[in-house]
Amino acid sequence: MTDVSSPVEPNSDVSGLDRAAQLRRKMVDDLLAEGTITSRPVEAAMRKVRREAFAPGVELEEAYQLYNGVVTKRDDAGSSVSSVSAPQVQAYMLEQAAITPGMRILEIGSGGYNAALIAELVGPAGQVTTVDIDKDVIDRARHLLAQVGYPQVNVVLADAEFGVPEHAPYDRILVTVGAWDVPPAWVAQLAEGGRLAVPLQLRGLSRVITFERANEYLLSRASRLFGFVPIQGAGAHQTTLLVLREGEITLRFEEGPPTDPGLLEGVFDAPRVEVWSGVTIGRFEPWAGTQMWLATVLPGFCRVVLDRKLDTGLLSPPGSHSAAVAVVDDDTLAYVTTRGAADSVDVELGVHAFGPGASELAEQVAEQLQVWGREHRHSSPQFRVDPAGTADDQLPAGRVIDKKHSRITISWPGAASVAAGRGAASRRAGG
Ligand SMILES: C[S@@+](CC[C@H](N)C(=O)[O-])C[C@H]1O[C@@H](n2cnc3c(N)ncnc32)[C@H](O)[C@@H]1O
Repeated sequence: MTDVSSPVEPNSDVSGLDRAAQLRRKMVDDLLAEGTITSRPVEAAMRKVRREAFAPGVELEEAYQLYNGVVTKRDDAGSSVSSVSAPQVQAYMLEQAAITPGMRILEIGSGGYNAALIAELVGPAGQVTTVDIDKDVIDRARHLLAQVGYPQVNVVLADAEFGVPEHAPYDRILVTVGAWDVPPAWVAQLAEGGRLAVPLQLRGLSRVITFERANEYLLSRASRLFGFVPIQGAGAHQTTLLVLREGEITLRFEEGPPTDPGLLEGVFDAPRVEVWSGVTIGRFEPWAGTQMWLATVLPGFCRVVLDRKLDTGLLSPPGSHSAAVAVVDDDTLAYVTTRGAADSVDVELGVHAFGPGASELAEQVAEQLQVWGREHRHSSPQFRVDPAGTADDQLPAGRVIDKKHSRITISWPGAASVAAGRGAASRRAGG
């Protein structure tokens, strides 16, 4: 049995390969210890494939960081457009996909390493196709896969918005780039009962969601917070930004701007109203569920982003973050923040609000924080993807998010109020 607690000692008298093998062993041991790797096949694949071979020229320690990817290409503005994804998210997605020998798999977004892991999982009877929109990435992946020993992988240069029909149907589709929508080709090319794992943007929140296909719709099995580089090509999405106070504060609207953005111009000139919810969470407790609950129940949901370089102290997003979840209602804005809880290492969730309806909106958001704390803290939402054009009465109860190609419903167990709020809730009346 491997000692999972032992740190890897720097070892100058072993070859580079031995050092890489040590780091690989530690990576897998750590992923097992934290519960991300849960199956023998994923463990075996990650023990075998030389991750560093797909990150040539990168320090071994960097290539084997558990929670960070290795950036392999940046755009002109310096933003990452391609990377070898972090081991943790790769292990998570592979476990969620439950790949077995003989399966046909499509990986969207290439690099080589993940395709090699998948090739190990499907074995010689299976088929792996990896597709990327970027020729540099494809040339590199094709070369590295052949060099490392996986020449059988189909490496395709294309915009994955349209899938890769020539090798379909697929038992699994793993999307390794941040998507805003689920295009029809992904559903059409997925076998009945097949799984699609995709990092999806929902009201500005990024979640890797694993769906299973049932007839024409997809139903989620699991979801978890992870960020990815955004998709390019036909599926690229333009976020609406409202820049205020000469860049100090930016509001991000993922599903279109508010009806009259001009109403928010002077919103931060009004005095701040604070309302505290009494709901506490551990200082390091993930609050992805809180955010998704608010995104489900509150119309006008958006993100407020603070430029720390221009910070005048007007906003205080939670902890050390520079972004907070927020809600706008015409000329009023409220965002969620935290403060130290009395006599505790926990933090209390609260609301800061600005504008004519500040007290009312802050109370409404705080009330939803309380509903989350009381009723949904230990539950998870379910997501369902139906084709655009599906009639309302064919959808499950929940918040419906209309995308270009799909209608995505977020449902919470036992949340009757969400069903009542679908598409019709008044912001100030509660939803
Ligand atoms: C995070 S990287 C993929 C990581 C890779 N799976 C690995 O082995 O770690 C995301 C990739 O998605 C690609 N991409 C972006 N938009 C795409 C699209 N519409 N179709 C196909 N690939 C796309 C980018 O070029 C980038 O190489």
